[in-house]
Amino acid sequence: LSRAASESHRGTAPRTVSVLGATGSIGSSTLDLLSRNRDAYQVEVLSAHSRVAALIKAAKIHRPAVAVIGRNDLYSELKDGLSGTGIEVVSGEDALIEAASRPVDITVGGIVGAAGLKPSLAAAKHSKVLALANKECLVCAGDLFNAELKKSGASLIPVDSEHSAIFQVLDANRPERIERLMLTASGGPFWQWSYADMEDVTPEQAVAHPKWSMGAKISVDSASMMNKGLEVIEAYHLFPVRPDQIEVVIHPQSVVHSMVEYCDGSVLAQMGNPDMRTPISLALAWPDRMPTPVKRLDFASLSDLSFAPPDLTRFPCLRLAGEALRNGGAFPTLLNAANEIAVQAFLDKTIGFLDIARVVEDCMSKGCAQILRTLDEVMEVDAEVRLSAQSVINCMKRTCVAMPQSVQQG
Ligand SMILES: NC(=O)c1ccc[n+]([C@@H]2O[C@H](COP(=O)([O-])OP(=O)(O)OC[C@H]3O[C@@H](n4cnc5c(N)ncnc54)[C@H](OP(=O)(O)O)[C@@H]3O)[C@@H](O)[C@H]2O)c1
Repeated sequence: LSRAASESHRGTAPRTVSVLGATGSIGSSTLDLLSRNRDAYQVEVLSAHSRVAALIKAAKIHRPAVAVIGRNDLYSELKDGLSGTGIEVVSGEDALIEAASRPVDITVGGIVGAAGLKPSLAAAKHSKVLALANKECLVCAGDLFNAELKKSGASLIPVDSEHSAIFQVLDANRPERIERLMLTASGGPFWQWSYADMEDVTPEQAVAHPKWSMGAKISVDSASMMNKGLEVIEAYHLFPVRPDQIEVVIHPQSVVHSMVEYCDGSVLAQMGNPDMRTPISLALAWPDRMPTPVKRLDFASLSDLSFAPPDLTRFPCLRLAGEALRNGGAFPTLLNAANEIAVQAFLDKTIGFLDIARVVEDCMSKGCAQILRTLDEVMEVDAEVRLSAQSVINCMKRTCVAMPQSVQQG
């Protein structure tokens, strides 16, 4: 992130912003910040996938040039809802990629899962800043993203709170002075539960995160600690470190968002109350900062900041993500695709909470370290693994139905 690049983002005219995934948790927090800074930003694109009413409402407030709905069957509803506003209305994946290719100052990548890959990559080519929350993009195709950013000259500013923390305290000009990155993890709702007790966890319990308010998929990932595993892979692609320099530490209070340790023993941390508007605001205002209404830390009332090592036995997803990073090649893409299918099956109550790791592990046992050089190769592996994960799940369902209750419990 050169000084020249950062200088080019300064200016007095409103900065143009596209928000991909505008109806989600990241999207809503972004729109909240944009509402508070109307003179500084002009919205170019708002996209959603299925929540058409929320998109219409947001488009009427923020007046983007284009509103995109992913599902083609919702096009007419969006068109009717925005008639007379002058806002261009489009639908479908190709239209989303085209809208994400409009040249803007900042694109906020708030789509969930590998569905965000193509639009975020389009934004990496055509935006000056890619404010990326959609970590699955870097997990599946980190090398492709970095190559594209190098070509286009765009800056990637991480929105994930841990990576935003590291971005703020890391001296990228002296990578040889960095000893380790420490990603903090709240541990999610089950970090003190026994493995046996986690067998019967319901989707409702898994999405009730103790510290952060987030979409369903990332909430389940946080509960299984796959989220932290994905973040380790994300950190590897964002920062100049080796896999063995990235560590995870459990910090249930979610006040320290991550830390960098240097060769002299100094540890620099970024802190704040857990509210995604802080890292999103940094990405929107970078290289400046903007005021936010985020509740301030009251150090006098912080009686306890605790830290503990993660337990890879009770949380096998974190171990599997580490293995995927070390194995390299297609493994991270595979891990992500299997996890997305398994999480959806868990949310649909087709499989249990602990089955998520079992599905991922089964798919990983059939994986290979083939290097994925193109987006087509990434998409091919992603599609194949989704099918394979689905057949593992179907097998689990059949075994479950066929087995007598007493055997299942034993
Ligand atoms: N939430 C957080 O606090 C947080 C923190 C750090 C990182 N992240 C990351 O940010 C990303 C978004 O998370 P979130 O919690 O905001 O998720 P979310 O609340 O579920 O929102 C996801 C957004 O993506 C859209 N979307 C879903 N499927 C799509 C598809 N196939 N094509 C295009 N758009 C699609 C959704 O549209 P509809 O709602 O209209 O269907 C919605 O706008 C994830 O990668 C997550 O890991 C989130």
